[in-house]
Amino acid sequence: DWTMRAFREEEIAKIRAQVGKGKVICGLSGGVDSAVAAVLIHEAIGDQLTCVFVDHGLMRLNEAEQVVDLFRHHYNIPLVHVDASKQFLGELEGVTDPEVKRKTIGRLFIEVFEQEAKKIGGADFLAQGTLYPDVIESVSFTGGPSVTIKSHHNVGGLPERMNMKLVEPLRELFKDEVRKLGRELGLPEIFVGRHPFPGPGLAIRCPGDITRAKLDILRQADAVYIDQIRKHGLYDDIWQAFAVLLPVKTVGVMGDGRTYDYVVGLRAVTSTDGMTADFYQFDMKFLGETATRIINEVKGVNRVVYDVTSKPPGTIEWE
Ligand code: XMP
Repeated sequence: DWTMRAFREEEIAKIRAQVGKGKVICGLSGGVDSAVAAVLIHEAIGDQLTCVFVDHGLMRLNEAEQVVDLFRHHYNIPLVHVDASKQFLGELEGVTDPEVKRKTIGRLFIEVFEQEAKKIGGADFLAQGTLYPDVIESVSFTGGPSVTIKSHHNVGGLPERMNMKLVEPLRELFKDEVRKLGRELGLPEIFVGRHPFPGPGLAIRCPGDITRAKLDILRQADAVYIDQIRKHGLYDDIWQAFAVLLPVKTVGVMGDGRTYDYVVGLRAVTSTDGMTADFYQFDMKFLGETATRIINEVKGVNRVVYDVTSKPPGTIEWE
């Protein structure tokens, strides 16, 4: 793609000019944006960049391994992998309020990141995969001018606290352009084409209190759902699809026994920028088959429901 090749060269020159001999630290989230930003910056300044991946224990199945593999093996870019799951899940214990969850995760993220920055002797710049829609939304995430619907967790507040300047090479791009740039930089398709994933991770897909046991159930149900979507060739038609674990148990019957297990909610939407969205119109056969697979393959689930709410009035995530 000619435009992206030109963009790549231009941005590399800009990054070099901005950073000079300074040190840059970049937080990876597992998502496309931060990965593309990191690879681009690495191309520009090589080992002046340190990538940090904070695993909060709220990732999807195998996600942490995939990130580590992409950077260390595919690109040979050094990566600091911090397993902070104990700290995050510990502090989230008993927290049920969605805003408190988001703020707790945001605060811990800053703390862990600060520790890591200290270990490398500090950094002059913080790199982020901020996109154009984030720039608009960050005024008030998803909300109108004066109401905050959700506190966007992405490292806001971090640069001032740590006295770092921002490097944001994707600030003028939309998601589809970031994907093009990712392809231009040689990121594997499985990574580039990925659905967006929120910073607070599975915490906001587990309404009510969060436990390791619930997260395990959610991760497995989500993996079956995504597998179904991929097998039916629907993944690229959908902006975002994921499972939610409801904090209720209902009665069911399996074989000749009673079950009393959790309900999984399935969400899938189409959208162009995440600001508005329509629920995805699966056919009923697909939904039925997916429900059967989840109930058969995931212990602890005996009922599956599909969310038919668009945005507005619903948001994409449940919290
Ligand atoms: P909502 O739920 O507000 O989400 O309709 C719109 C889009 O933003 C993602 N999202 C987040 N992304 N940090 C992120 O990086 C967050 O705190 C956050 N909250 C929601 C959501 O997945 C959807 O794509």
